[in-house]
Amino acid sequence: MKSHPSNQNSSSDNKERFSSSGFIFAAIGSAVGLGNMWKFPYITGQYGGAAFFILFVVCLVAIGLPVLLAELAIGRGGRGSASSSFVKVGGQQIWGRLGMISVIAAFLIISFYSIVAGWTLNYAVSAFSGNLFANPDFTGQFNDFMSGRKPIVWQLVVLLLTGLVVVKGVSAGIEKFNKILIPGLLILLVVLMIRSLTLPGAGAGVSFFLNPDWSKLGAESLLVALGHAFFSLSLGMGAMLTYGAYVEKSQSLGMATLAIGGGDLLYAFIAGLIIFPTTFSFGINPAEGPGLVFIALPAAFSAMPFGALFGGLFFMLLAIAALTSTVSLLEVPVAYTMERWKWTRTKSVWIILFLCFLLGIPSALSLGAASNLNLGGKAFFDWMDFIASNLLLPLGGLIVTVFAGYYWKGAAAESGLTAWWFRLWLFMLRYVAPILVLFVFLHTSGVIKF
Ligand code: TRP
Repeated sequence: MKSHPSNQNSSSDNKERFSSSGFIFAAIGSAVGLGNMWKFPYITGQYGGAAFFILFVVCLVAIGLPVLLAELAIGRGGRGSASSSFVKVGGQQIWGRLGMISVIAAFLIISFYSIVAGWTLNYAVSAFSGNLFANPDFTGQFNDFMSGRKPIVWQLVVLLLTGLVVVKGVSAGIEKFNKILIPGLLILLVVLMIRSLTLPGAGAGVSFFLNPDWSKLGAESLLVALGHAFFSLSLGMGAMLTYGAYVEKSQSLGMATLAIGGGDLLYAFIAGLIIFPTTFSFGINPAEGPGLVFIALPAAFSAMPFGALFGGLFFMLLAIAALTSTVSLLEVPVAYTMERWKWTRTKSVWIILFLCFLLGIPSALSLGAASNLNLGGKAFFDWMDFIASNLLLPLGGLIVTVFAGYYWKGAAAESGLTAWWFRLWLFMLRYVAPILVLFVFLHTSGVIKF
């Protein structure tokens, strides 16, 4: 009889729920992070400015949104963790095991994402206090900071703050935190955008950002854009799937998907309108890579009036964006261990954070004090990033698309889409997304090169 497993399911369903706006803010909080504020601007700089931005929008809409909707629907249908939801909506055990890939990916990502989040907190504090601008050698300052113990201390602060939010639960913790900080973040972004757009020579930065250089586009930029669309929407790591499990049945997942995608683009767009005008105004090359935010931007802030204030605001904004993402990352393994081993939320949160902290130490040190912590020329940190972002993330995405596109009978009902939209969604999930995601995987894992 069919009724037996479904009875079992309902007894192990989670009972926590988001309010409808709370869910949108929490999901935007997960999506908007260092990816939008730190990575997006420098890859846009590298791969052709506006041409890359347009490509990114296309990838986000055509591939990212269908996968996002699939994750949300599987989560809400199953009301379990990023692993069990696949089984609870009717998949075989093997899907649950495959879903564990995302739980592991989320765990690994927290261990190194929280390190970079810690840098932003350190920079916010030292910018506000004026220390950052007391010494104009920003490269030296960054290297000094990295070679000491401070990155570990700041990582610990990030993990503790994340834990304090997640331990309070879905509605009193995660939802409340995001409902305050995500609108707050938008206000800070707009203030900084106005500041940077009114700098002398800002126009050159705007036109770099908004005038397409099509000659830089190619297969490589397509794969980078696609990979980033995935990362930016927090896909492939069970984060959206886990949040989906807390969404009310009455909420429209289609509308939520559009709102989350739109929010993610908006925050990235404004970040671009802060970073490019600022760097161009001070004659800094925007394609400087990862150091752009921690070395080039402090130089720009130090040269502007009230630089300590604006610089401090900028780094605080990065820290907020990062924290709303670490919160959603942590919820993935927390939901999993609460369900699997019947741990209490408190126990799950602190045990997982402790393990993330331990795993984070070699990552943090490998970029500074212990630069010998590398394998085959790649630092421990870069290995973690590579394994999680380049291997596990596309794999996790592939599992979601194949499951929802080919195996899941209840996809139409749970998605709530009308017949026409459902057909389009299914087409993207079946034929377009898996092939492109497979290419991203082959590219990021180094199997194919351009
Ligand atoms: N989307 C986040 C950003 O843009 C990073 C991220 C990737 C993420 N995957 C995630 C955050 C999963 C939370 C959960 O920075």
